[in-house]
Amino acid sequence: MTPLAAGERNHREMAGVLLGFSVGQRKGSSPMLEVLEHSDRSLAECGFSPPAPKPQPRPLKPIALIRTLKRNPLECWAAQHFEQPIVAGGLPVGHALLVHEPTAIRHVLLDNAANYRKDRLQRRVLSAGLNEGLLSAEGEQWRLQRRVIAPIFARKTVMDFTPAMMGAADVLIKRWSRLGDYASIDVAAEMARITLDVVERTIFSDGFGSDAEDIRAAMVTYFNTIGKISPLDLLGVPDFVPRLSRLRVRSTLKFFESEVDRVISARRRILAEQPDQAPHDLLTHLLEALDSESEDRVTESEVRSNILTFIAAGHETTANTLSWSMFLLSQSREWRERVQAEADRELTGPTPGIADRLVETRAVIEEAIRLYPPIAAISRVALGDDDLSGERVRSGSLIVISPYVLHRHHLLWDSPNAFDPQRFLGSARAEIDRFAYLPFGSGPRKCIGSTFALQEATLVLAMIVKQFSFQLKPGHAVWPTLQVTLRPANGLPMIVRQRFPSGPRARASRRVLHS
Ligand code: HEM
Repeated sequence: MTPLAAGERNHREMAGVLLGFSVGQRKGSSPMLEVLEHSDRSLAECGFSPPAPKPQPRPLKPIALIRTLKRNPLECWAAQHFEQPIVAGGLPVGHALLVHEPTAIRHVLLDNAANYRKDRLQRRVLSAGLNEGLLSAEGEQWRLQRRVIAPIFARKTVMDFTPAMMGAADVLIKRWSRLGDYASIDVAAEMARITLDVVERTIFSDGFGSDAEDIRAAMVTYFNTIGKISPLDLLGVPDFVPRLSRLRVRSTLKFFESEVDRVISARRRILAEQPDQAPHDLLTHLLEALDSESEDRVTESEVRSNILTFIAAGHETTANTLSWSMFLLSQSREWRERVQAEADRELTGPTPGIADRLVETRAVIEEAIRLYPPIAAISRVALGDDDLSGERVRSGSLIVISPYVLHRHHLLWDSPNAFDPQRFLGSARAEIDRFAYLPFGSGPRKCIGSTFALQEATLVLAMIVKQFSFQLKPGHAVWPTLQVTLRPANGLPMIVRQRFPSGPRARASRRVLHS
């Protein structure tokens, strides 16, 4: 093995743990570290500081670091990472720079992006191994796909998905309403369910056909299995070598892939024979997309990979965004009331542009993904030597930019650990440095689905808040954990009640509640 290859493997391992994966990780095994003691100046103005690990006083020594990384990578960050712009080293292997300074980040992700390749394991983790999809493609294949796919996620197209997103929220509202008042609901599981429903309605809007329930169940197994990293991935063993976890559910995976292929070919036929009958969804857009420069289309296997990539990259991240937003609202009376008032006012108006009118709801969401960014680390490997604000970068250096650290950095934010959606409203919004807030990354490889995700989260949150009041189940302690994406450990149980119940029983209980 060449020194670079060895370095790459080590980098892959480190990137893997930083990104939230570790072999043999057990769900919910994180101990309750001391909840962040808040020492920010304007706590009274800014509200409360939601749960987060207290930074380690000093960087951890190698063994403790590896243990903590395996348990919950969020717990390994040290105070200096939140206080210094760039920290070199600190990882037990290779040369690494932990970069949380806007000018240096801009250099890596935008100005000199050609010198920084996506880290291989990050691609593997986030793209669920879909090598030909946009998330993991490289070079000319990526450039062509990005050009062709970008218009599909443009604002105008995404706005056309408003009814599909609201339709999915309606189904959820009806289901919760049937559960009756004071139902205990795992909001994290419910958010995963609604984001998959949105995926289905916006990608395959004419449905899966008669086997829909089986296909939906297979889809859940598919993404739970294929998104998991096996020890062989960490060792860099190629994809054609079978992984045990996938072997166990091989027939389900094959069933789901063949069903996706069946839906794609059926759609191709409709487009060829009765184009005006084809639904206006992501699949149709993808099959019709043509590169204006080269007249190239996305190939057959790239269509399948990208459809699967959209599901993999889009549903869990958006589900976590919604879960954290609901949790934060459950802790802040002021913002719950503000968002409720906005939903009562705006959700009755005309549908076009509805998400744009929900400005306070959106500010809550932006603040939720500042405090709990679903993708908590972005990593790159340097192809050649470089200089980052005076720090030397060598060919093969690992660059880690953690939105989690960046968004709580003391040099960049006032009261960084406090929940304060006001930061994203009016003139305060304009003061945020573009490279200090990166929930969706930046530069040529920034998230293609950010408009889609923000619109979906805004609409769904407003619709839930309009209909229900909710509080965290008493006794449940919320704790952030990083397992590929940043999520609440052990779910998010909440007690949910209709705000405006109907029927005589509901009227009677409302009288009791208000008396
Ligand atoms: C709140 C929800 C989301 C978050 C926080 C998020 C975050 C990110 C981040 C940080 C990146 C950049 C990674 C890097 O530079 O290494 C990224 C890329 C990407 N995201 Fe998202 N994402 C979200 C939703 C979505 C949705 C809904 C879709 C599609 C339906 C999507 C599709 C993609 C794709 C295809 C890429 C790769 C783009 C490229 O390399 O050209 N994401 N996302």
